[in-house]
Amino acid sequence: MTAFRAAGPAMPRVEGPLKLTGAARYAADHHPDGVLHAVLVGAPVAAGRLRGVDAAAARVLPGVLAVLTAADLPSFPELPPPSAVRVMPFSDDRIDFEGQPVAIVLGESVEAAEAGRAAVVVHCERGTPVLLGHGRREPAMGGDEVVFDKGDVDAARAGAAIRIEQTYLQAPRHHHPMETSGTVAQWDGGQLTLWDAVQASSTVIPVVSAAFGVDAANVRVVARHTGGGFGAKGYIWPHEILAAAAARVAGRPVKLHLRRSDQFSSVGYQPWMEQTIRLAADAGGVLLGIEHVVVNNAGLVDTHVEPATEASKSLYAAPAIRLRQLIERVSLNVPTAMRAPVEGPGLWALESAMNELAEAAGLDPLDVRLANFAETSPADGRPWSGNGLRDAYEEGARRYGWRSRHERPRRDGPWAIGHGMATCTMGSFRFPGAARVRLHRDGAVVEANVHDIGTGVQTVLSQIAAEELGIPAERVDMRWGDTDLPRTGPTYGSSTTVGTGSAVAAAARDVTKQLAELGQAGRDPFEALDRAGIDELAGDGTFALPGGAEFSADGAGTPYAMRTWGAIFVEVGVDPDFGLLRLRRAVGVYSAGRIVNPVTARAQMTGGIIWGWGKATMEESDQEPVHGRWLAKNLSNVAVPVNADIPADIDVSFVDEYDEAASLIGARGIGELGATGVDAAVAAAVHDATGVRVRDLPILPWKVLAG
Ligand code: MOS
Repeated sequence: MTAFRAAGPAMPRVEGPLKLTGAARYAADHHPDGVLHAVLVGAPVAAGRLRGVDAAAARVLPGVLAVLTAADLPSFPELPPPSAVRVMPFSDDRIDFEGQPVAIVLGESVEAAEAGRAAVVVHCERGTPVLLGHGRREPAMGGDEVVFDKGDVDAARAGAAIRIEQTYLQAPRHHHPMETSGTVAQWDGGQLTLWDAVQASSTVIPVVSAAFGVDAANVRVVARHTGGGFGAKGYIWPHEILAAAAARVAGRPVKLHLRRSDQFSSVGYQPWMEQTIRLAADAGGVLLGIEHVVVNNAGLVDTHVEPATEASKSLYAAPAIRLRQLIERVSLNVPTAMRAPVEGPGLWALESAMNELAEAAGLDPLDVRLANFAETSPADGRPWSGNGLRDAYEEGARRYGWRSRHERPRRDGPWAIGHGMATCTMGSFRFPGAARVRLHRDGAVVEANVHDIGTGVQTVLSQIAAEELGIPAERVDMRWGDTDLPRTGPTYGSSTTVGTGSAVAAAARDVTKQLAELGQAGRDPFEALDRAGIDELAGDGTFALPGGAEFSADGAGTPYAMRTWGAIFVEVGVDPDFGLLRLRRAVGVYSAGRIVNPVTARAQMTGGIIWGWGKATMEESDQEPVHGRWLAKNLSNVAVPVNADIPADIDVSFVDEYDEAASLIGARGIGELGATGVDAAVAAAVHDATGVRVRDLPILPWKVLAG
């Protein structure tokens, strides 16, 4: 059986040289013979009716091959999940958001297609757009994730010594990966190949096959390198289907690579959110009840629920919990999951409220968390598969010097210095998947349909195979990014190492078992293969969930509740005259099961903390209040952290763990955990420095000054 193994070796990324030399090819780097370039034409109004598309001037431009409108395209059925939209654009004349595609220009060059786009005139009847905060609210449909009741929250509040009731807001944010979403589509008879910028290529197939009524076996998706995604490439979006439709109509391959301006409205973003938290506690800060009501915006037709209430169901030992999820329908494209979804937004509210509870109870924010530590799952009492949260609190406080923070200087020149902390947590997302390991006489090849999205998964999977086979990781090659390879889970939800890593480990063990059956047990595998006179031995491995489930967020179907944990401590400088904020230091300690590669793991968490700082203090996508469209159309006024915003002193470490229940490799999942809790910790630090509580993200200078 599995012995405890410490963190794996720090191995540099195997896919690094491909990127540094330009050999890595992204979706839009594929140019099949005869490829046409497609550019979307979007509705110029955010609400109303399409009256007509006048493409006469565009069609006569040199290099413009066609301008496709609804009449030229096939009619599509309602699309199944994980399509982000149920009803494809072009299905009727309703305009539900600005930028909604109403035509597709096909050109011999991207320049020709762009020129054609500029010459298309779209006639619309203009309606009145529904703005954020003014839409119709309705309960989110769903299961326990969105409506949850335990105990009597009202009685808890009635008997409480301390009551906290606050509403926390956060602005919409766009993912904006460096590589915009894009698809190159090619039909060969009834066979469709997509080179697609995606996070889960295997899930593209059922949606595309439903859209065109073709057999799933006739659709192949190639997606090796994905230039960032953060969730925007997690589900299937209309441009992927439109590229294939245009290719079918034109009889030539089509490349549809979203312009940066179309990235705002053609794929999702993190929704606007309003969260109300009501805490009831005794005089010692021990929780008696939590109520958490979440509203996130959706589109007028399509729905995305951001189940931020999950945070309040999973973290603290409250005897009474009431959770409600609502959506608000507005004239915007439908939002989607964004890096650290679910608990990411949820902890902004819950952890901010916990910091307010600490103040009301006269407790250190760390002590109020320790006082409410959940020994078992607050949702259903299951024991944790692993929970190093207490160790994370203790080690984080030690590394930060938390208990002595106020003994250090409170000013540094113009900067007032504040300290804040929060708990980090996410569900342990697990998806089933498969992998194959081929042992040759001089090396091994891992085959699994993962993508390279920059997290280092090729390196980690190579390490896992090498460790299981007992060979150097340098002797392992990877084949990935093609639906012809063994199907794995998606490249999202912090799930790849857990699921595909376990499948790779199982496949490697299958190889070892076959070697033993050949009488070669205990030998160096290359020598064993040589002695057996075999050139290649292939092992297959799978990672399955209880009951054959397709997804589990928290160990469903097992005796254990599975989550990842952490504690984040931040030091923030505030200029009280200008309201400027500076991140000065951060310490994060995380409990996520076994860490396979400390280098890639640390990079994930550092990136998460930077991401969290951006969410806390910078990122905001505004809906323009007259026209109802996204205000920005490019990145020139989109604030995100750059190197100058981030101090060198980001201290990341991990609790030493091995979680046998969560996966074959002892891991529970890490990627997005680092982005949780940061916003609440930053808000607490701003309060510590200035006495101002900002409950509306991002914490912009004017909000600090207004306080
Ligand atoms: Mo992340 S929202 O799981 O890509």
